[in-house]
Amino acid sequence: MNFVEARASEIHSRPNVPVGPLPEHELPAFTPELAAELEPFYARVKHIVTPMEWPHYAPLIKAINTLKAQRNAVVLAHNYMTPEIFHCVGDFRGDSLQLAKEAARTSADVIVQAGVHFMAETSKLLSPDKTVLIPDLKAGCSLADSITPEYVRMLRQAYPGVPIVTYVNTSAAVKAECDICCTSSNAVKVVEILGAPRVLLIPDEHLSKYVQTQTDVEIIAWKGHCEVHERFTAKDIEEISAADPGTKIIAHPECPPDVLNVADFTGSTSAMINWVKTNHPRKVALITECSMASNVAVETPDVEFVRPCNLCPHMKRISLENIYEALRDMRHEVTIDPAVAEKARRAVERMINLTN
Ligand code: 13P
Ligand code: SF4
Repeated sequence: MNFVEARASEIHSRPNVPVGPLPEHELPAFTPELAAELEPFYARVKHIVTPMEWPHYAPLIKAINTLKAQRNAVVLAHNYMTPEIFHCVGDFRGDSLQLAKEAARTSADVIVQAGVHFMAETSKLLSPDKTVLIPDLKAGCSLADSITPEYVRMLRQAYPGVPIVTYVNTSAAVKAECDICCTSSNAVKVVEILGAPRVLLIPDEHLSKYVQTQTDVEIIAWKGHCEVHERFTAKDIEEISAADPGTKIIAHPECPPDVLNVADFTGSTSAMINWVKTNHPRKVALITECSMASNVAVETPDVEFVRPCNLCPHMKRISLENIYEALRDMRHEVTIDPAVAEKARRAVERMINLTN
């Protein structure tokens, strides 16, 4: 898939972009003055966003940035957001750990999570006094859906005394049943820091198998999978390498082991981005959600990207339209039962304290 086709599928895959436009009077018109005012934003994304798309995005970007100032709000944009969100309305950008830490640090009253529901919950855990909004309540995650608090309690009984580490891609209710949280950027460190010979690492089987290759601690896995990363195969990588053997393969640890075995580098979304920015490969394939390549391409125009275009249907529920609606109507507020939140917060804070 070439860059234009990938970009087109990125746009058309969104499940909930409103069928009709927002009422016209709500948004500023795309006048020459507005175009001039937003030129610095367009300059950031013009390699990716076409001049035909920009008159649609620019009024929304202006309206969102105005509402952010009025409501003392910030937008936390995950690396998988599309470029017009990531580069034009995101105040903080990064992987799930970085975004959660920014949520805790910001002095804003309102946080809009441009990401999925477990990320918004993590922000709420670390910022209980702030209003956390998610633009679409259906922005879920197949990993978070793969395990429930009841299953964690069953694991606790089946493996007495074995610490339970939960990947951040889980609900607050699951985190509340676990000893400590981890992310793809610190999973090995967290598993080792516990000092136990055996650790349950839930729910991503592939992440657990990857961590097992990096540590002597025995890892017991759960069979959850990311519906986006599990689709990559060793054959996909063979085809990319056969087309150009110089292409560097950079993969997220949620990919299956036979993909990770042939990767030149494995890391969290931000670690993958840093690898590209530091190493400046001639050509690179980012084996992860497809929007990330668009976002990095904006900052590394000298690097050629191969885009095996797997899109996360949950991440793609977030659009400029529903970010605008979230700020306009202060919806959808993320709340967590206080008893659950207290225990879940402990697991997240323990991770942050032990890995800082
Ligand atoms: P990161 O923590 O690496 O950003 O990953 C989150 C995620 O959902 C990957 O699919
Ligand atoms: Fe969940 Fe996978 Fe989407 Fe990440 S890419 S949010 S792990 S379904």
